[in-house]
Amino acid sequence: MPATTMDQLVSLCKRRGFIFQSGDIYGGLQGVYDFGPLGVELKNNLKAAWWRSMVYERDDIEGLDSSILTLRTVLVYSGHEDTFTDPLVDCKKCKNRMRADQIVDGKCPQCGSTDLTEPRDFNLMFKTNVGPVASETSTAYLRPETAQGIFTQFKNVVDSTGRRAPFGIAQIGKSFRNEITPRNFIFRVREFEQMELEFFVPPKDDEKWHEFWKNERLKWWKEQGLKEENIKIVAVAPEDLAHYSKATYDLYYNFPIGYEELEGVANRRDYDLGNHTKGQKDLELQAHVHPNKDSTSKLALFDDETKKWYVPFVIEPSAGVERGVLAVLTEAYTEEELPNGETRIVLKLKKHLSPIKVAVIPLKRNQPEIVKMAHDIKASLLKTGIGRIALEDSGNVGKAYRRHDEVGTPFCVTVDFESIEQSPATVTVRDRDTMQQERVKVEDLPEYFKRAFL
Ligand code: GAP
Repeated sequence: MPATTMDQLVSLCKRRGFIFQSGDIYGGLQGVYDFGPLGVELKNNLKAAWWRSMVYERDDIEGLDSSILTLRTVLVYSGHEDTFTDPLVDCKKCKNRMRADQIVDGKCPQCGSTDLTEPRDFNLMFKTNVGPVASETSTAYLRPETAQGIFTQFKNVVDSTGRRAPFGIAQIGKSFRNEITPRNFIFRVREFEQMELEFFVPPKDDEKWHEFWKNERLKWWKEQGLKEENIKIVAVAPEDLAHYSKATYDLYYNFPIGYEELEGVANRRDYDLGNHTKGQKDLELQAHVHPNKDSTSKLALFDDETKKWYVPFVIEPSAGVERGVLAVLTEAYTEEELPNGETRIVLKLKKHLSPIKVAVIPLKRNQPEIVKMAHDIKASLLKTGIGRIALEDSGNVGKAYRRHDEVGTPFCVTVDFESIEQSPATVTVRDRDTMQQERVKVEDLPEYFKRAFL
């Protein structure tokens, strides 16, 4: 187990405004969380790093933002309506409701009773109705994975971009699952975000690309600050594979609750594109229309060598944003003993993930010249585009350092009397991790930080 505990993270996240329970003032909605002023920055930074590595840095991936509300037919043909279930068991004695895999030696983990109901399949999808009249035909779902939006827009993306395999479509967005037992803070929740890539490859190359993406994803998580020794890659046992998968690697991270899944890298074969092609044919038949002779090639690619259409295989790295946030917080949380006996809490986040990049602190809040210089410095640093710059005008430098250590701000800039007296003007720059301070010319600050955040 890592040294960081869940209690330490929950407490820091609430105290400093990273994560709050949804509907907190009314007792809270279970399994649903809101991201506060700093949480939204951290989450956006993690998503931006993923998007950059997938869509901007590669030449073979396009982006997409598909809808959350999903046509029922899509989730019928994807297999989710029939198979996206968890077995649910009730304890007749204490009324505890649990997933069947949470039963310990045939006993309820809450009261120890063996008087349990038979497992019943419980579909995890949230159902709703589109339009004013609730009926079978108006049923829609909140998507349980972002992937289906990618599969159903496959043809539009291919037609509009002229892509040939291997190529991918990347998407970040909300997914919803009515988890029977949401738990462990933001680890298992009912509303969450996924960062998913569907990478389409010729069927003969599937295993090569599966290995490739497993390795890429491990590398990326390390760039987000996770230590390799805290990540385990596990090949999912055949009997535990999802209904669409030929093979899956799970990346496990050493969370405060032990090793648990952070990301899955699945080989989804031609399952989804194949089923949606079949779906279109079925609907044409039901409408007594002769199936379009093109139907089988609708969700397919043209092979220039064989001059034939084929359904590509799909390799899918799929990561949860909340689990990513929890992992980087777990890794970054540090308590250090200072020489004066005090404990310093410091969030050693990778700089690109830090919610605030630089805090500018005027030594005195009632000294107009000092305050003005701090405002000017903030404005000049904002122009560099490195991210959020905070102006800390509490008038207490020690307190500001403590606060910014706790929220992971990599640098604090302090404007003091020397700053306004000297020419050229200088300020103190303090490094979060080493606590070392150096004087830097004000005119050099934009370049100094641009280099630091490269
Ligand atoms: N499209 C494939 C897919 O959805 P999954 O293994 O069910 O596969 C992928 O989910 C990732 O989404 C998981 O590795 C996890 O990080 C995240 N995830 C899944 N269910 C979650 C939940 N209830 N709460 C938070 N994250 C979840």
